[in-house]
Amino acid sequence: MEESFKGLKRTKMCGEFTELDIGKTATAMGWVQRARNKGSLIFVDLRDRTGIIQIVFDENKCTKELFSKAQELKFEYVIAITGIIQKRSDINEKLETGTIEIIPKELKILSTCDVLPFPIEDEISTREELRLEYRYLDLRRKKLKNNLILRSKTAIAIRKFLESEGFIEVETPTFCKSTPEGARDYLVPSRVNPGKFYALPQSPQLYKQLLMVSGIDRYFQIARCYRDEDLRADRQPEFTQVDMELSFADIDDVIAVNERLINRIFKDVCDININLPIKRIKWIDAMDNYGSDKPDTRFDMKLVDLTEEMKDVGFSVFSETVKNNGVVKAINLKKQFNLPRKKIDSYVEFAKEYKLKGLAYLSYGLDKEIKSSFTKFLKDTEINKILEKTNCEPGDLLFFAADKRDIVWQALGALRLKLANDFDLIDKNKFEFLWVVEFPLFEYNEEENRLVAMHHPFTMVMDEDIDLLFSNPEKCRAKAYDIVLNGIELGGGSVRIYQSKIQNRMFEILGFSKEEANEQFGFLLNAFKYGVPPHAGLAYGLDRVIMLMARAESIRDVIAFPKTKDASCLMVKAPSFVDEKQLKELSIKIDIKKS
Ligand code: AMO
Ligand code: AMP
Repeated sequence: MEESFKGLKRTKMCGEFTELDIGKTATAMGWVQRARNKGSLIFVDLRDRTGIIQIVFDENKCTKELFSKAQELKFEYVIAITGIIQKRSDINEKLETGTIEIIPKELKILSTCDVLPFPIEDEISTREELRLEYRYLDLRRKKLKNNLILRSKTAIAIRKFLESEGFIEVETPTFCKSTPEGARDYLVPSRVNPGKFYALPQSPQLYKQLLMVSGIDRYFQIARCYRDEDLRADRQPEFTQVDMELSFADIDDVIAVNERLINRIFKDVCDININLPIKRIKWIDAMDNYGSDKPDTRFDMKLVDLTEEMKDVGFSVFSETVKNNGVVKAINLKKQFNLPRKKIDSYVEFAKEYKLKGLAYLSYGLDKEIKSSFTKFLKDTEINKILEKTNCEPGDLLFFAADKRDIVWQALGALRLKLANDFDLIDKNKFEFLWVVEFPLFEYNEEENRLVAMHHPFTMVMDEDIDLLFSNPEKCRAKAYDIVLNGIELGGGSVRIYQSKIQNRMFEILGFSKEEANEQFGFLLNAFKYGVPPHAGLAYGLDRVIMLMARAESIRDVIAFPKTKDASCLMVKAPSFVDEKQLKELSIKIDIKKS
């Protein structure tokens, strides 16, 4: 029943026809979005990537053969239509082509369509699993298709901009060497080297540094990266970085070119004006004020420190915590003094998920009546200090956390975001960019009982802290920076170590012996012996950039063929078991029972 396509050519794409085409003969092709049969008239919406155009089959104006063929049309049939463009009598404001229609002379049904697993509509309630299984159908929907178009435009704009700034695009391998530090690797077995594995790159980090040794000077790549880590709305096992590295550059050079990049891309692709320079916030201030290293500054509700004020109070939960080097912090939920007890309890439970032992509260009535679990232990002067410091006005509700610094940051940081969402405090039209700078160089890993690099082992210590690297490394700050948008980490980077003395000290602190460092990173350390320029770089998560531009909920919505939470593809059914023969060739034995 499928007819021949031979000799057919499209005049334009469906969404490109305009009133200037009225009176012309045209050929259009695409999918039948819908066909409405009104007796002697059949209206067909013909859709392609660019939009929809209406075709009207009038029984009194078509041949019998043409009209009966039109009666066969069903959802998602692929057809070619040749006819005359005419002005519509009833204008459809919702369609770009709403003032014109095609009066057909010839119809070819190029392919038919089975019963669909779900309708191809803009608003859809079908569960995501089914849509992922039929991803190629889901991508026919305007929203997802537009996300892919936005992604393409952005990638092209990035390439153009970076080229204009002297960057060269270089591809680096995806079969790499497994190196420690960072997330878990995805491994690829080598057939010709039995028992050996390649690792897929978590990022092109080491290659781009080597390219600086090569004299490439300014490198970029839109690179696929792979990390075997727990997945979330903004994390996929394979994702795309816009990766760059610059020679003879320090923090301000990287930030400057990236501010120009962000400004240009958001303007050109989505007509959003970003004010430059982008605000910078020190990591410690981000943590102290927002309980997060990627603060969402679209709303205020900062964490207020009360450690000093609470150190001697009669409420031992607070004073004991301070004595044990902990902190006491509060947040003020404005105008919610009469939040029901049940709701408050739900926030206490929420905070406990972040290892906080409890969450105290204080409700300040409109009549200045205080209801609280702990103020009976406090003097009036102490209560007044709390009210003053938290800017607590009649009608407000305060939450308090007392614990180790990191736990309070985490718990109140998460509570702050939850409250903002629950009480609709976030202006969704805002685009709030932020540089987070002066990260710690190391963080303590309790499981491994050692210091690990917060960014990676090649990150340079701040000039002011070089001495600390040899005396008190835990206190060192890094020449590292993250770019944050609306509470999401868009990208991160650092100035790299290029002096062997500092690099060796770094490995020493991280617990690598000389031999281990050589075994893992010898190629890089060696390369640095042959003349290495000072260099610095940064990488964005492109998926996240597009997600925010498209105002999508998840990066899955901006990736053509994404994976689910358990890192599988429901469409091609990957990962999958493989033949015994393939395993044998790879010298691999599987040690699990097939279910
Ligand atoms: P980093 O590890 O911070 O830095 O990664 C850079 C950016 O990549 C994005 N990203 C992800 N996006 C989706 N899914 C994931 N699983 C995922 N993991 C990371 C984030 C992040 O900010 N080589 C360094 C960069 C450098 O120092 O130049 C690096 O990879 O948006
Ligand atoms: P408890 O001493 O456990 O009866 O707690 C007394 C009050 O202090 C309750 O309102 C608890 O929720 C609160 N609380 C307990 N531990 C903490 C903590 N670490 N930080 C803040 N409030 C707490």
